[in-house]
Amino acid sequence: MSPILSTHGLGRTFRTKGGPLHALTDVTLDCDPGRSLGVVGESGCGKTTLNRLILMLDTPTAGEVRFKDKPLAQLTTNERKAYRRAVQPVFQNPYSSLNPRLRVRKIIREPLAANTTMSRAQIDARVDEVLEAVGLSSRDADRLPAEFSGGQRQRIAIARALASKPELMLLDEPVSSQDISIRAQILNVLKDLRDEYGLATLFVSHDLATVRFMCDEVVVIYLGRIVERGPANVICSAPRHPYTQALLAATLSADPDAPEMATRPQGEIPSPLAPPSGCPYHTRCPHAHDLCKAQRPQAQPAEGGGTVACHLVEQGGW
Ligand SMILES: Nc1ncnc2c1ncn2[C@@H]1O[C@H](COP(=O)(O)OP(=O)(O)OP(=O)(O)O)[C@@H](O)[C@H]1O
Ligand SMILES: [Mg+2]
Repeated sequence: MSPILSTHGLGRTFRTKGGPLHALTDVTLDCDPGRSLGVVGESGCGKTTLNRLILMLDTPTAGEVRFKDKPLAQLTTNERKAYRRAVQPVFQNPYSSLNPRLRVRKIIREPLAANTTMSRAQIDARVDEVLEAVGLSSRDADRLPAEFSGGQRQRIAIARALASKPELMLLDEPVSSQDISIRAQILNVLKDLRDEYGLATLFVSHDLATVRFMCDEVVVIYLGRIVERGPANVICSAPRHPYTQALLAATLSADPDAPEMATRPQGEIPSPLAPPSGCPYHTRCPHAHDLCKAQRPQAQPAEGGGTVACHLVEQGGW
């Protein structure tokens, strides 16, 4: 089965006053039908840049994004419309992503506007259907965003994304702006929808615990590069890359019952304007040695599945 969406050697370098900023480098990944892929990494690692490239809000400076094996740049006008329906985003903050002047019905109708094959009645029925799918009711269609709580607003954003019957949902930190008590509810809504509609999801987050709950497979990004990938249960419980181990330790240290593990990431993330030589993580890695400073490790197949780019793992541990 071919992926709905794939990226191939995707890169984005921004020209800045301080010189070229490599926000994303050589990112290759697949979003397969019905599967949920997680993308994790600390702030500034390039997650939103990846999302914007996929949504055609920005253009790559290297590589490409493909929709069903066809590069986005080569899509015909009709294929481009199909792509915009098939791939729907849900953003981090529903306060800024929902137009406060529009009633919910209009907000949800928006992605359907280009669809001329649906009658007005069919569109209204679809609005009611997606509101119910996210745990709201058709009565909510005539209200304004301001009348809802943050969690309810995120449900409206998810309903809007669902309206055009997408094949892939792009979720950029969809719960990080919510209270802890609301997060689990929203994640459960997303999970149920995914199972019910067979939706694929690309789930961007800095939180391994959330990704473990939501995803089948995970890609870990550090300074714009993929450093590890594999099954979610491996990445989120027995990661192989020292960076992922540190991320996991940071997640676990929030839990007082968790066993003592590797330490959370030490020190500051280096500036992407002056990325370290060799392995991008060597300046923070407790196990780094000379080779790590000199040579960038290539992705190698790893025990447990997926790949890891680390000289130490390659040499059998430390
Ligand atoms: N338009 C731009 N011009 C210059 N630099 C940019 C631009 N957009 C992003 N960057 C830089 O690219 C890098 C990646 O940013 P990005 O927003 O993709 O990170 P992120 O992983 O989404 O972070 P967060 O977790 O904080 O949302 C950062 O160093 C950022 O400062
Ligand atoms: Mg971001």
